[in-house]
Parts: sequence; C-alpha cells; structure tokens
Amino acid sequence: GGYDEPLRAQYHFSSARGWLNDPNGCVFHNGEYHLFYQHNPYGITWGNMHWGHAVSTDLVHWRELGDALFPDESGMMYSGSAVVDWKNTSGLGRDGKPPLILFYTAAGDEYTQCMAWSTDGRTFTKYAENPILRQVTHGNRDPKVIWHEPTKQWVMAVYVELKGVHTIHFYTSPDLKTWTYASKTDGFFECPDLFELPVDGDPAKKKWILTAASSEYQIGGFDGKTFTPETPKLPGHRGKGFYAAQSFSDVPDGRRIFIGWWQTETKGMPFNQSMSLPLELGLVTTADGPRLTFTPVKELEKLRGERRDVIRPDQPYGARPRVPLVTRVEAGGLHEVRVEFEPTTAGNVILRIGGSTITYDVKARQFIVHGQRANAPLIAGRQRLTIYCDRTGIEIFASDGQCYMPVPVNIGSDPQPSEISVESDGGDAIFHALQVHELRSAWR
Ligand code: FRU
Repeated sequence: GGYDEPLRAQYHFSSARGWLNDPNGCVFHNGEYHLFYQHNPYGITWGNMHWGHAVSTDLVHWRELGDALFPDESGMMYSGSAVVDWKNTSGLGRDGKPPLILFYTAAGDEYTQCMAWSTDGRTFTKYAENPILRQVTHGNRDPKVIWHEPTKQWVMAVYVELKGVHTIHFYTSPDLKTWTYASKTDGFFECPDLFELPVDGDPAKKKWILTAASSEYQIGGFDGKTFTPETPKLPGHRGKGFYAAQSFSDVPDGRRIFIGWWQTETKGMPFNQSMSLPLELGLVTTADGPRLTFTPVKELEKLRGERRDVIRPDQPYGARPRVPLVTRVEAGGLHEVRVEFEPTTAGNVILRIGGSTITYDVKARQFIVHGQRANAPLIAGRQRLTIYCDRTGIEIFASDGQCYMPVPVNIGSDPQPSEISVESDGGDAIFHALQVHELRSAWR
C-alpha cells in the first residue's frame, strides 16, 4: 500500500509526507545510494528545513528513512552535499570504517557551513566544532565538497553573493575541518556542483564542469584552486521546473549521475514536489565544442513491462500530412516511448501521448511541449526521442542526449483511455521506430 495517490509519481522519488525541494548529500556508501533532500515534515509548503533521507541500491527503488538533520539553534538545515572520507582525513571514522560526511548550511541569523558524520549511514552526528566555515556574506550557502585527486585535497564550492554579484567561492582543506579560500568565479546562483567528465568517453581527455541551480554550466579546467572556463555559460536542461540538481559522489563504476528537484504539480496531495529521473551525464564533441549530454540511467530498464513495436525499422512509416498512426494505451499509464524519425520537408512532426503533444518544428529545429519551446541541438541524421511518462510529468531526451526536456504535466488525472499517435503536419516525415514500453511502479 501507500504511494498510490492520483498525483504521486510512480518512478520519481517524492517524500511520503510534506514539502520537498533540492536533492542534498547525493552519495554512494556501503552499497547504497543516499538521497537527502530539503524537507518540511510539517507542511506542504516550503519551511522548517530538515534533511529528509532515502536510500536505494539501484537509483530506481527508494526507501524513505527518517529525517537525518533537524533544525537547531544555528538555524534551518539548508542544502549541501556528502562525501565518503576514504582516507579518514577527518579522523571521524571508527573501527576502520570511513565516515560518511554531510555538508550543510545552517541558515540562522548567520549563514554558516557545517558538517555532520555517520559510519552506518543511518544516524548522523553534527560535528562538535561547527561551523567549519564562517559566514562570508549573509545568504552564502550550498556547500558542494569533492576530493581533488591531483592535489590530494578537499575542495568546497559554495554560493556567495558578493556586492550584488552571484559568485561561487572555492575553498580547500586537508581534513574537511579547516578551510582556506582559494578563488572565486562569477555568474552562478545557488547549489554549485563541480566534477570531471571524459570527452567522448576517452579517460585520457577529461574536462571539468561547473554548474549551479539553473543547470546552466561551463566547461573548463580546474587545478585544485581555480576554475578556468573554456566555454561561455551554456544551457543545461531545456524544460520546466528542473532545479538545484546535484551529482552523486563516490559512485563505484565512475558514472556521473545527476538528479534534480522537479517542480511537479501535486495539488491536494499530502506531499508536494518530486525529484527528476536520475540522469547519467556525458560530454560529447560537437561542431560548437564539447557539450553535456543527459541520459536516463540504465537501471530504469528494470521497470519495463510489456513492449510494443508499433513502427519497426524494417517497415518505416511515411507519415503523410495529418494521417496519424494511432495506438491505444492505458490512461494515466506509465510509459517509456521511443520514436525515431527523419523529416523530409519542413513542417511539424507531431507525437501525441495521451493529453500531451510533442511537436518538432523542423525548420526552427525546436520542440514545443505544453507551450514550452526548446531548441534542439543539431545532430546528423535521424532524431531519436525517448520519452518517460509518469503521473506528474514527462521527460524528453532528444538530439542524442544534448536536449533534456523535463515538463511537469498532470497526466495521472486523465480518466479516459488514451492513445499514442504520430503524424506530420505541413511537411513529410518518415518514422523509423515507435516503441512503447509499459513501466511498472517503483513503489511496489
Ligand atoms: C535552492 C535553495 C538553496 C537553499 C535551499 C533552501 O532551491 O534556495 O539555495 O539552500 O533551497 O531550501
């Protein structure tokens, strides 16, 4: 039972009760992914910020535990991150077990950076000598801590408003307890993240990514002290209501997995808001330089049920204008839809999934979904779309991962049987694939 309310996303994490915003402390420790989050256990609007806590062994099935961090005299528990302190640099480990350490902002009269630690991943103790970083300016927040291997030290990226300018400050530390200012960079607001990714999957060619709450990002170099951008600020997601995403630390297979707060509509529910799908990040070379790619994590395939190949590659479907190809699906159903098409003349290629219409404007090279227009980066050959539909929204992956478009929409409340269709309008297109997987709920 439970987790079956009409507007409860079925394979996106949401809190059983209360308000949720940013993902916090994303980390892999002792065989489990930990997802902490900004949580108000006492209401369905923002306030009383605690760190909620959930764990998963596969990023898909989450189990909510009790809140991990509670407000105290230093303030509310604002956003932050987590690391495993493998070398026990902090000395907080016990019996040879590396500690799991959380970094949060205590938001009170002053905003200070603090830490809490655990060896079992269940109970968390606030560090007795908090804060580890005093207030720089009021409102400074959201520490993201990483291990920088080449210089063998810890690095903290933290958001600081300095004389009206949004900046990210970088600090370094040998032991997580004492921090030294290293440098700053301008132009990013709230919830920074900093990580390295291989270019085109080549481990010998790595670049650093600096991103923040909007998911806009810059690619460049980082020497342990200073971030040197090599690109302008680039758009991250191209949808709606995706914010404050954070990547997981210490993932054993080296994947860079990113999860965001997804501002879905959950009116009338005993909870509010949800997380996005977990996304695997990559870097690809394009004509304009390197760019981030977003791919749903492969573990989501576990949710697949019945599969239908409506259009198969060996029998392409030439969609003449306004002749839709229709297949019926269950109302409010959970689906993964894959579509592959090649427009042959300018016009609109249209895909309808129940009440949602996804239009691709061939000439403008834009997707239009529920009034939201998104530029689709140019790719060679066919457009391949993957669309995940849950009760509170759809997430579209296009342009070989360069276009991630999350769109909140209440498809769960649609009581009528519905259908999936493809057509072209004002132009011609050839569809090479339309594949529909029913998905199971991750809560059962
Ligand atoms: C981003 C944010 C953070 C802050 C938290 C408070 O959504 O404003 O900057 O730490 O939410 O809940």
